[in-house]
Parts: sequence; structure tokens; C-alpha cells
Amino acid sequence: MANQQKNTLSGEELFKRVISHAKEYGYVFPSSEIYEGLGAIYDYGQNGVELKKNIKEYWWKSMVQLHENIVGLDSAIFMHPKIWQASGHVDSFSDPLIDNKDSKKRYRADVLIEDKILQYERKGKTDKATQLQLQMEACLANNDLPGLKTLIEENEIADETGSKNWTDVRQFNLMFSTQMGSVAENAGEVYLRPETAQGIFVNFLNVQKTSRQKIPFGIAQIGKAFRNEIVARQFIFRMREFEQMEMQFFVRPGDELQWYEYWKEKRLRWHLSLGIAPEKYKFHDHAKLAHYANAALDIEYEFPFGFKEVEGVHSRTDFDLKRHQEFSGKKLQYFDPELNQNYIPFVVETSIGADRMFLLILCNAYTEETLEDNSVRVVMKIPPVLAPIKVAILPLMKKDGLAEKARAIFEDLKYSHMCQYDEKDAIGKRYRRQDAIGTPYCITIDHQTLEDETVTLRYRDSMEQVRIHTSQLKAIMAEELNMDNLLRKI
Ligand code: GAP
Repeated sequence: MANQQKNTLSGEELFKRVISHAKEYGYVFPSSEIYEGLGAIYDYGQNGVELKKNIKEYWWKSMVQLHENIVGLDSAIFMHPKIWQASGHVDSFSDPLIDNKDSKKRYRADVLIEDKILQYERKGKTDKATQLQLQMEACLANNDLPGLKTLIEENEIADETGSKNWTDVRQFNLMFSTQMGSVAENAGEVYLRPETAQGIFVNFLNVQKTSRQKIPFGIAQIGKAFRNEIVARQFIFRMREFEQMEMQFFVRPGDELQWYEYWKEKRLRWHLSLGIAPEKYKFHDHAKLAHYANAALDIEYEFPFGFKEVEGVHSRTDFDLKRHQEFSGKKLQYFDPELNQNYIPFVVETSIGADRMFLLILCNAYTEETLEDNSVRVVMKIPPVLAPIKVAILPLMKKDGLAEKARAIFEDLKYSHMCQYDEKDAIGKRYRRQDAIGTPYCITIDHQTLEDETVTLRYRDSMEQVRIHTSQLKAIMAEELNMDNLLRKI
């Protein structure tokens, strides 16, 4: 039996290892690395791009393919600038920032305070931690920027250089902007969308009419979003360019809280269907609601740096559609044939970051095991349906026709699955390489294969090896790598 070390690592150490492993095995690279990188922007490598694609496919299937009343959309990143005035992003999509006068470093005031709360908790000062949390929440709710500064000073919060010489706290808008058309044409400022949801709202009637959907129905979208985050840290947890998977569900006014409960439970089941332990998740109800919401919660996962939001479920009322109707001057009403009545629908939204889900999968998967011979194996226990490479095909040696036989198996399986052929190094080393990538199955071809058409199938997590006939391979893979089996649990 292998002894798992994952849980004996401190959160900080585990996270460090996940980050360096992600780079070493082609999951995530810092963007523009040869130019010293670009803050909070990352590139996905050969394995990362596969994992991310699989996460998005799993989401899309569960939301669009499995719901007759949810359809997809792919709206543009650039939208009319008035959209962001209507949505409230121009006026209030901001974070409280504070600068350190000595180090010239910029911080998010609430994040500095959150770090202090964590420090209090670690030292067992739970009363102080709770008090500071409540004080901070009150300041944020009331937009009390001087209050936040007072909390920073009273709690003697220093920056990473040790300096406590702070400026006042200011609001900083998170939207990136650029110019549309040439400057000579004096064209206007446009924004890079900070959420994909608005593309759904402004297309609500286009989609409803052309798809002939009746309320309740949803529109789903996967796409890039951009936020000029002040505190961009924790690897891909908080990025400046990221991807969202959002769904807006349009319902009758008055029905929204019932649908909110429905989506809250359904989305949690989506997470759990991937085999992630339920105790790693919790709901966090928003104590203070945004002005447009009448209920909101985060689905939190226990990352190595604590329980943090991975997904939001929000009951957004009719705020967005109403505002777009007002700002555009176009009616955004739905005619309900059952009620024989026009109204602006209410909206329940589910919004999950594809990159954050990716990080969740990496953190959840990273495992170090001490084997019987005392060697340590690093294995990524990624749910097989999401794994970048599904099957590795390994001839025991190149000679005696083993390589040719292995190639033939590879050529046959590659139509159904992402396969990798590898003939370099000793077999044990090749198994370790696939474990580190997270490949659920290795198929080894040896001399016996030439005689009786059997191969060794090795399972990643248990390292169990079974001898099977090559004619069984496709059926085993089709069964075990089929997303349908998991989707049926949601
Ligand atoms: N339309 C609602 C909305 O955008 P949000 O809570 O701001 O709500 C939804 O974002 C999700 O998007 C978050 O739960 C998170 O997974 C992801 N997300 C938000 N900001 C992010 C960032 N800077 N980097 C990576 N993911 C982010």
C-alpha cells in the first residue's frame, strides 16, 4: 500500500508544489515568460489546454446538451460602451486600493485585512479575527474607505517590506479599456468585458425569439473576461485575463427564489459528480447583497490557501434587463402566453471561472505517495474524464516488433481518445511520467502480446495491473472514460 503524503504538507508547501508541477508538466506557464512575465496573465501548455477543454466540455454538456430549455451563445468581447453604464460597471465595478508610500507597492485594502484575519486565526485569536471580519464587512457594505484605512492602522498591518506608511484608500475601477477605430477618427473608448453575462442579457430577446424558448429558459456562454485586478496573486486563482462559464436562467417574477434553490443544489451536484470529496465544499451565503440581487451565494472549495469561491449563484432580479431597456430605449419584455401578459423576466445566474475550476482540479489531484521501496511517486489523480491524456501506449522495448505492435494499437485508439505513445526510458520511469501528467491508463506491450494479443493495462491510482486481450481495450475505455456516466449523477 502506498502512503499518501498530500495531507501532511502544509497548505503553503502543497500550493508551491502544485504551481511548479503545473509548469514542469506543461499545464500552465507564466505568460511572456522570456520577457519576465506579465502580472497575473498565464498561458496553458499542452496538457493544460486539454484539461481546460475537458472542463469546459463537461460544463457545456451538463448545462446545454442536457437541458432542452438551455441554449448556448458566443457573444463578442467588445460591446457598446453604454452596456457597461447600464450594468453599473462604469460607476461601481471597483475595488478599494491602498498604496504603500515607502515601497510604492499597491494593495487591495480588504485583502490586507483578510490576511490579518487569517493571521489572528492561526494564532488562536478567534475573537479578534471575528471582530475584524465584521468591521471590514461593514466598511465594504457602506463604502466606508476611511474606515478601511483605520482598520489597517489600528491592526498595525504592514506591507511585505514591513512598512506601515499608507496612503488613503481609493476606489479603482477594474475594467480595461481601449480605443475603437483609429484615434484620428476620435472614436470612443470601449471596454474589454469584465463578465460574459452582459452579452447574454443584451441578446436575451434575439435568442428567445429565434429559439422559440418559453420561460423558464436559460442561455449559457463560455468566454474570456478581463479584470484589472489589483491584487493578482495565488497563481491562476485571480487573473487579469480569464474565462467564465455563465448561465442566465430567465424566470417569471416571483419564481426566482425557487429557481435559485434549484440551481444552487444542481451546481453543487455538478462538482460532486467529479468525485471530489463533499467536505471540500461549502456554500457561503452573501451576508450583504449587491443592490440588484435578492439572494446570492458562493460555492467554495478548500484550496490549499483556505476555503475560497469557485462559483457564484446569484438571483439578479430584473435589474440588468430593466437597465438595458432603459439605456437602449428598446423593449426587453417577454410575452408569457400562459399568463397572457408582458413582463421583464427575473434572472438566476450561475457563474464559474474555468481557470479557477482548473486550479481546483489540480490542487485536488496533486498527490505524493511513498511507495514500499521508499521512493516517492507524484501522481495527479485527475478525474479520468477530465484527464488531458487518457491512455499511454508503451512498448516494453523498441525491438522485436514491440514498437510496431504498440504503434498499431495507438493508431487504433487515437480516434476515440487522446493517446500518447512513449518508447523512451525504462518502463518504470515511463509509468511515473504518466502518473505525473495524470494519465488514467497505461497499456504495455510485451513479447507475450505478439503471441496471444494480450497487453498489460495499468491503472494510475491503484497501480493495479491486469492482463487483457487487445479486443477488450475499446470497450473498457469507452465505459470508463464516458462523461455520460458522471453526467447522469447530476
Ligand atoms: N456574472 C457574475 C460574475 O461575474 P463573479 O463572482 O465576479 O460573478 C464569477 O465571477 C466567477 O468568475 C468567480 O466565481 C470565479 O470563479 C471567476 N472569476 C472572477 N474573477 C476572476 C479572476 N480575476 N480570475 C479568475 N477567475 C475569476
